[in-house]
Amino acid sequence: MTKTELFKFFHDLAIVPVVKIDDAAKAVPLAKAMIKGGINTAEITFRTDAAEEAIRRISEACPEMVVGAGTVINPSLAEKAVKAGAQFIVSAGLNPETVRWCNEHDVPCCPGVCTPSEIEMGLSLGLDTLKFFPAETSGGVKMLKDLGGPFPKLKFMTTGGINPANVQDYARTPNVMAIGGSWMVKADLIENEKWDEITRLCEEALRLVQCMELVHVGINTADAAEAKKVADTFTAFGMTLNDGNSSIFMDKSIEVMKSPFYGAKGHLAFKCPDLERTVSYLGKKGFTVKEESVKYDAKGKMKVCYFNEEVGGFAIHLVKG
Ligand code: 3PG
Repeated sequence: MTKTELFKFFHDLAIVPVVKIDDAAKAVPLAKAMIKGGINTAEITFRTDAAEEAIRRISEACPEMVVGAGTVINPSLAEKAVKAGAQFIVSAGLNPETVRWCNEHDVPCCPGVCTPSEIEMGLSLGLDTLKFFPAETSGGVKMLKDLGGPFPKLKFMTTGGINPANVQDYARTPNVMAIGGSWMVKADLIENEKWDEITRLCEEALRLVQCMELVHVGINTADAAEAKKVADTFTAFGMTLNDGNSSIFMDKSIEVMKSPFYGAKGHLAFKCPDLERTVSYLGKKGFTVKEESVKYDAKGKMKVCYFNEEVGGFAIHLVKG
C-alpha cells in the first residue's frame, strides 16, 4: 500500500490497535480474533522480544492483516520490522534518522509528537500525518483542536490513554485520522487467550467511533395535502411545524415527506461526524450507497447520503453532524 492508500485505510477503519505481545505463538490467533471483530490492522510494538516474530507470523498467515511495527526507536529496528513484513512504522517519539530511513525506503511512518516544535520537525521531514502521543496526558482533544489552528492540514493518529469512555471525543475531532490504543488487545487478554473478548472489544470500538445517533424519522406520504394532514396531527403532540419545499419538519425529529420518497415507509436519519468512515463501516455490513442521494460540503466531504438497502421498510439516511 502506498502511504496515501494506507492513511485512507486507517481513516476509514478509524482504529489501530497497539499490541504488546510476549509469545509469538499467540500472534496468529490474536490477528484472527481482531479480523473477526472487523479490525484488520495492528501496530505490533517492539517492547518485547516476540515482536519481530509476531509480525512475521501474522504477515504470512493473515494476508488481509495490515501489520505494522510500533516503538521503533531507530533505523535498524525499522529495517528489521520491514524485513519481517511490517507495512508501516510507528514510534512514540520523532527520530529524524528513522523517518529518513522510512522516506528513503518508501515505508509509511508515523512518528510520535506532542508539541508544536516536534510537529515542525515532522513537517520539515516531509510528513503530513503524525502520531499524537501520549494523547490524554498531552492535553487530549483540546490540545488537538488548538494544534489545528497553526497546523490546519496536519492529521494525527492519537494514542495513549484512549478507551471506550473517551474514544468518541477523538472520533469527533476533525484532525484525527485514526485512533490507536491497547484497550481491545491488552497484554493480559492475549496472555490468557481471551480471543472472543478481543473480538467483542474490536467490534465495540468500531461501533463507538461511528458516533451514530438517530436524529429524525422520515414518513412518506402521497402528496403535499396528506403531508399537511399528518403534520397537523403531530402538532397535537406539542411539536412545532416547519414547512419546507419537499417536506415538513416536526421539531427536528419527524420529517413528513410531501411525496413517496426513499424507503417503502420512510427513512431513519442517523447523524455521524464522518460519513466516509461510516459508509465504509456499513459497507462491510452490506449497505451500499444510493449514489444519486449523495451531497458534499465545500471541502468535498460527504454531508448526506442514503443507502439502497432498507431496514423494516425504512431507508437509512446519514447526515453529517
Ligand atoms: C502507544 O504506544 O501508542 C500506547 O502504548 C498506547 O496507549 P494505551 O496503552 O494507553 O492505549
